[in-house]
Amino acid sequence: MINIPADIKHEIENLVKDLNYHCYRYYVIDSPVISDEEYDKGYRQLKELEEKYNYVLPDSPTQRVGAPPLDKLDKVKHTEPMLSLDNAFSHDEVREFDGRVKRSLKSDEDVEYTVEPKYDGLAMELTYKKGILYKASTRGDGYVGEDVTVNIKTIKAVPLKIEDVDIPEEIDIRGEVYMDVREFEALNAEREKGGEPAFANPRNAAAGSIRQLDSSITAKRKLHLACYGIGAVRDIKFASQWEFIEWLKKARFPVPVLIKLVKGTDGVIKVIKEIEEKRKDFSFEADGAVIKVNDFALQKALGVKTREPRWATAYKFTAHQGITRINDIIASVGRTGTITPVAFLEPVRIGGVTVSRSTLHNWDEIERKDIRIGDTVIVERAGDVIPHVVAVIMEKRTGEEIQFAPPTECPVCGSAVEKDEGGVAFRCIGLNCTAQVQQRIGHYASRGAMDIEGLGEKNVELLYEKGLVKHFVDIYNLKKHELLELPRYAEKSSQNLIDAIEKSKHTTLARFLYSLGIVHVGEYAAKLLARDFKDLEDLYHVKPERIIEIKQMGEKIAGSVSHFFNDPGNLHTLKTLKSLGLNISNPDYETVSSEKLPFEGMTFVVTGSLPKPRKEVEELIESMGGHAAGSVSKSTNYLVLGEDPGSKLQKAKALGIKTLSYNELMNMVKGEGRLF
Ligand code: IVH
Repeated sequence: MINIPADIKHEIENLVKDLNYHCYRYYVIDSPVISDEEYDKGYRQLKELEEKYNYVLPDSPTQRVGAPPLDKLDKVKHTEPMLSLDNAFSHDEVREFDGRVKRSLKSDEDVEYTVEPKYDGLAMELTYKKGILYKASTRGDGYVGEDVTVNIKTIKAVPLKIEDVDIPEEIDIRGEVYMDVREFEALNAEREKGGEPAFANPRNAAAGSIRQLDSSITAKRKLHLACYGIGAVRDIKFASQWEFIEWLKKARFPVPVLIKLVKGTDGVIKVIKEIEEKRKDFSFEADGAVIKVNDFALQKALGVKTREPRWATAYKFTAHQGITRINDIIASVGRTGTITPVAFLEPVRIGGVTVSRSTLHNWDEIERKDIRIGDTVIVERAGDVIPHVVAVIMEKRTGEEIQFAPPTECPVCGSAVEKDEGGVAFRCIGLNCTAQVQQRIGHYASRGAMDIEGLGEKNVELLYEKGLVKHFVDIYNLKKHELLELPRYAEKSSQNLIDAIEKSKHTTLARFLYSLGIVHVGEYAAKLLARDFKDLEDLYHVKPERIIEIKQMGEKIAGSVSHFFNDPGNLHTLKTLKSLGLNISNPDYETVSSEKLPFEGMTFVVTGSLPKPRKEVEELIESMGGHAAGSVSKSTNYLVLGEDPGSKLQKAKALGIKTLSYNELMNMVKGEGRLF
């Protein structure tokens, strides 16, 4: 063994320390202070000294590469099992989670939570002994994982040594190994070129890379790590998740972006929304947000279910995209004559829903995206919005795909077509076009409109074809014996339809206006009209100027509404409908004409024990137009005090917020008290 001079030892130690620090600045906090050349120079110097004196520190950056390939990955037992997470699929389910937490803790106080993105990667455990990275393992089945220590070391953001903090004897740090989306795409492009199969998603790519037997392959894959959890630990105590995260940051570990500490569900939901909004800017794929009770003592009190902790949940974003094939494209004629190209897709599950159709909007869009029958496409579905084609995967073209030309005549009635004002949509000009007429009838009967159960698309088509309903007015002349003669109708279903028609005669003005299918008048515009016009007759012969006066009404709607109510044919239809027994009430008009709700614009916080359950009191406040918040802030107007109010009272006092007793609140509700 060579005897190493003290100054050389010192130099090696300093080089390791410096290089590790610069590695941290570059890979963890993304703010390097030296150039790549300077780093490389130091690295080479270190490598030479290490070789010459055969003195290699365990946290030397040279230890990140060069382990010989393995035959297999060894098994590693986790000291504490690595759990999975329960899911919440809506904000309501997040509130339910919070409700369970509070019930379980038998507390009414707002709970502190940490909220952070859910990384779509692979869970890891990193064990450090006396501050040195000793072992890294995959989650495996939660109890036993695989040893990927040499591979983990190739990730530059992983500290080989814990620095700058009190070092525990031993600690298990957990996190997610992931691949950035751009890296994933570049990797796939390269693999396809080389004839290797592409990875389905960044998660699979990360998993495949970290479980390599040859760590030199892992080293090329540019993986990342985000640390978010703790397993077993000796010699050091953390009071909370947040304190632990702070410690991790100080100790140079990469932690999740956008991690926040909040109180109560309102705070949680705010952060969830923020994460969802910023998600598109993340370099990695996030499939949700993870919500954890902050206080470790509370976590302990809450405990675990079989495989999931009761103190955490994962809020899942709706998956919006899927890949599938366009089997066919048709031109569909809408209620107002607009012709829309619609793609029939090979059914694909997206965010829990099977999608088999997608609008292609118009022919400009088809041309711009070069969409053809037979193409493999990416389909997106966001919330309740109709799915649409995002892009064609050109690499999948075989040459057999067929282009879909714009219509030269209406595909249903053969009438001429014209381009509409904007110049993108084609419109069938045939007033009696079957497609349009049937859809007007279907729309009239639909749920948000007159809500006639049993008059769906198929039945409308049948009644139309049999000549029984050629216009929605005809619905009211349907006779049971006529229905009984039709193939789809038996005694019961015929009676049901007659009853449903009768029942639908009692309706509101807002619904009725919407049912008429006036161009540009959707449910919301119909409601605005109903707020302003007491009776249907008040709209007869209305001028556009009168409609424009209504807040939010634009020229287009005004023109269309006025046009509709000045058309003699339409007025005749309306009169006929009324004579057939339509009974139209207008509750919307009354709401507006009465005073503003008494608590409108006021925020209340209810605390302490009250004569009624808190939820009930809050509902009462909301029914009077007020907002019931969970915690006191500057925007709180009143704190409603029950017995033993606790910390909220102190906070309210500090902020100078007015307090109300339960009785005072009740007086205000009855209109006897005054709002300040
Ligand atoms: S906490 C008991 N935090 O999600 C706590 N997990 O469905 C469990 N994951 O196996 C982990 N990002 O692979 C946590 N910020 C995050 C996460 C996260 C991704 C993964 C992890 C875990 C899975 C559970």
